[in-house]
Amino acid sequence: MTTTADLMKKKQNGEKIVMMTAYDYPTAKMAADSGMDVLLVGDSLGMVVLGYDSTVPVTLEDMIHHGKAVQRGAGDAFTVVDMPFGTYHGSIDRTLEAAVRLFRETGADALKLEGAGIVAKAIGRLVSTGIPVVAHLGLLPQSAGVTGGYKVQGKTAQDALRLIREAKEVEEAGACMLVLECIPHQLAGRITEELSIPVIGIGAGAETDGQVLVFHDLIGYGSHHVPKFVRRFADAGTPIRDGITAYATAVRDGSFPADAHRFTMKEEEAGKLYG
Ligand code: KIV
Ligand code: NA
Repeated sequence: MTTTADLMKKKQNGEKIVMMTAYDYPTAKMAADSGMDVLLVGDSLGMVVLGYDSTVPVTLEDMIHHGKAVQRGAGDAFTVVDMPFGTYHGSIDRTLEAAVRLFRETGADALKLEGAGIVAKAIGRLVSTGIPVVAHLGLLPQSAGVTGGYKVQGKTAQDALRLIREAKEVEEAGACMLVLECIPHQLAGRITEELSIPVIGIGAGAETDGQVLVFHDLIGYGSHHVPKFVRRFADAGTPIRDGITAYATAVRDGSFPADAHRFTMKEEEAGKLYG
């Protein structure tokens, strides 16, 4: 079992931490079998799995449903589940109720929350309840409607200094790890140096303690928009489309199912079907 202490040790030893999203059992199982350090049940599932155009429609029920599936296949990987939009900005009681449900029902190792400020207070409260928390700063997809879309954050020194303050704030609140999304590499490098907790980047350059990518993006599967910072490590879309097309062709031309795929009753039994 990978623990927060193991992840901290990797940072201290300069060993990169590898993280990816997963939304179901077979993906979690394959990733865990190939030695993935961290699996994130991201609310990106709203886009890549459920077909919404943002993460805003994703519910607590959605996260529990997918979180449980991933947890069953996660093996030794450290598992993180996103708290979805609107579940941690109300009263601390409501935040805690949602977090406890998500943590307990999924069996995840940690929950992830976007932002600092009042979110840092929520992080502190969750941690004091016994729930490990991963923080998320930079581009915050749940706030894209307010911040003006999916854009690089922290490009001016003023914004960058604010992000450094927020990073320290979430660390002080007790976060066990920080995800930095879509910020300049120099800023990500500076934050990685400043913090003692592991810092994981996505679209944040190579100077962080590790990387995270959305599974569908890294294997080239799906029809959603793929950001500039992604490298496609495989082209899963082509064999999937080819397989589906070949199946349809085989059914239509009668070559599937063949004799090898059918079940047979004894002739004497079959004969009785005709009276
Ligand atoms: O939901 C998600 O996939 C994420 C990653 C981009 C970090 O939060
Ligand atoms: Na997310």
